[in-house]
Order: sequence, then C-alpha cells, then structure tokens
Amino acid sequence: MSPELRSFAMDLVESNMKELYMKSKDGWCREDKENEMQDVSSRYLVAFDKDVPVAMVHFQFVEEETMTSRDVEVAYCFEIQVVAGYQRRGIGAYLIGLLEIIGKTAQMEKVMLTVFKANKDAIKFYINQLHYIYDEISPCICLTRGRASRFDYEILSKSLS
Ligand SMILES: CC(C)(COP(=O)(O)OP(=O)(O)OC[C@H]1O[C@@H](n2cnc3c(N)ncnc32)[C@H](O)[C@@H]1OP(=O)(O)O)[C@@H](O)C(=O)NCCC(=O)NCCS
Repeated sequence: MSPELRSFAMDLVESNMKELYMKSKDGWCREDKENEMQDVSSRYLVAFDKDVPVAMVHFQFVEEETMTSRDVEVAYCFEIQVVAGYQRRGIGAYLIGLLEIIGKTAQMEKVMLTVFKANKDAIKFYINQLHYIYDEISPCICLTRGRASRFDYEILSKSLS
C-alpha cells in the first residue's frame, strides 16, 4: 500500500466507524487502529472509481479458535469500508465476493469477521444479503444469553468448503 492509499484506508475507517467505536466498550483510538492496519500480515483490496479510491477491504490470513481443540485457517476480514456516497451500489458485496475467492484459492476454511451489535445495517448486509452466519465462537452462540449480553460484538463467518 502506498502512503496515500494507507491514509485513504485509515481516514475512511475513521469517518465510517469512529462513532460506533466511541460507543463501544473499547472506545476509539486512531493509533491502535493504525497499528492494526499496518500489521505485516495485512492485505488490502481497494476499489477505484477511475483513479479515486472509493472502498477497501483489510484482511489477513490467520488461525482462529473453534469450540473444539482444533484451530482453523481463515481469511479474516478486519475491515470493509465503502465511501458514503458509494454505498448501496453493490461494491461491498463485490469486494466480499473477491475475498471469498481469495480465501478459497488459499485453501482457507472460512471467511470470518467481527461486527458491532449496534451496526445493524452491516449485520443486514452480511446475513441477509451475503448469507453469513453467527460463528460457533460468537458470543450469542457459545455463551448463555446473560453472558453474551456483556459483549458488544458478534462474530460472523461463511464456510468456503
Ligand atoms: C456495510 C457496507 C460495507 C456494505 O457495502 P455496500 O457497498 O454499501 O453494500 P452493497 O451495495 O453491496 O449491498 C448489498 C446489499 O446489502 C444490504 N445492505 C447494504 N447496506 C445496507 C444498509 N445500510 N441497510 C440495509 N441493508 C443494507 C442490502 O440488502 C443491499 O442490497 P440492496 O441495496 O439491493 O438492498 C457499507 O455500507 C459500508 O461501508 N458501511 C459503513 C462501514 C461499515 O459498517 N462497515 C462494516 C463494518 S463490520
């Protein structure tokens, strides 16, 4: 990623997500987010309108825990962000489709992601449109209702097998 694209990605996360993060338990810290996004394992998909970047996916190939002792290799979607004026035009669904192809080609078992419970629009996007499900390690699946309510996020996934 060029420094310009890195700034684009970071600024887009901040403008789309800062409010949700500020309402979350961990709050918003730009420096932490920058460090996460600059991890050596980070990979990006960026969509352009002519020469102007308008959306991005930040993903990493990682090992994730399961409810058994077995770990799974997954393509973890850390961010999907579309510039406000370009939302609801199919760009997000297209980028996630690309990530699924990349994950499958790299023989990952699934695509996973974390979503704030408060981000109702994104949950509709993943579940209704893209047919993601609550993963077995998502709080609402693996914990009792009382314990799950202490978490402000859920974990979604789609099998690539
Ligand atoms: C969520 C997001 C990535 C979706 O990308 P997008 O390009 O806007 O979505 P698409 O146009 O591909 O949407 C496909 C379908 O998903 C559903 N969907 C997408 N955004 C939605 C919204 N705001 N409300 C309800 N449904 C939505 C709809 O079914 C939509 O189809 P339709 O427009 O024909 O009804 C994008 O809106 C975004 O960047 N949001 C802000 C950042 C964010 O919340 N990122 C996710 C963090 S986990």
